[in-house]
Amino acid sequence: MKCDVLTIFPEIFTSYLNESIIKRARAKGLLDVAVHNIRDFSSDAHRTVDDSPFGGGAGMVFKPEPIFRAIDFLKEDGGPRKVVLLSPQGRPFDQSIAEDYSKEEKRFVFICGRYEGIDERVKTLVDEEISIGDYVLTGGELAALVVIDAVTRLIPGALGDERSVEDESFSWGLLDYPHYTRPREFRGLHVPRVLVSGDHREIERWRRKQALRKTMEVRPDLIARMKLSGEDMKILSEIEASSGEDP
Ligand code: ADE
Repeated sequence: MKCDVLTIFPEIFTSYLNESIIKRARAKGLLDVAVHNIRDFSSDAHRTVDDSPFGGGAGMVFKPEPIFRAIDFLKEDGGPRKVVLLSPQGRPFDQSIAEDYSKEEKRFVFICGRYEGIDERVKTLVDEEISIGDYVLTGGELAALVVIDAVTRLIPGALGDERSVEDESFSWGLLDYPHYTRPREFRGLHVPRVLVSGDHREIERWRRKQALRKTMEVRPDLIARMKLSGEDMKILSEIEASSGEDP
């Protein structure tokens, strides 16, 4: 994925983009992120980017000119861009959007909103408005990092072990199954016997059952949207029959 980020707090990105998988993906050339300060595109000595809202009311609104100028600058090379505005009014971000973005050829521009909002005319530049959840953050910076992170994990070669991405919870449409590592017993808490049985078919089935159980409990809406296999239906009826018992 290639992207530009427009923000008035570029430092927020420095630490996250320089750690772990994101750092490695950048080093391998799988992820190209350039962070730009919207203030660099203002036209006055005070580097103003906001103003009070027409019609009155509390708070400040992002002015259109610096953002238009920033986008003009980013489009100067003529390459196609996909402009995404991060805001609580956007389409809810999920794994299928992350998958689409990971295959996108165009370079992204992520606009991070702040203050009470952004001058509506900026929307004429925007291809898609994205929200990361039904809550209001102080700005779009965390949301842009969430999107960049979720997309990067799906870029082939970005994770050390390619199986991890296939295994990962939402690729199945289910929540994740429980994980254990050494020691086998810790303060009287035991690792489920099946995981140390060496029986890989049984382990697979146990993991699927745990994932189905957890999803039923916490996110039944995900189950309702899924295409369940015959085996899944069988596992679900086992879960129902044993409800109240230990896993
Ligand atoms: N900016 C503020 N809140 C947000 C949210 N929930 N998603 C995306 N951008 C935001």
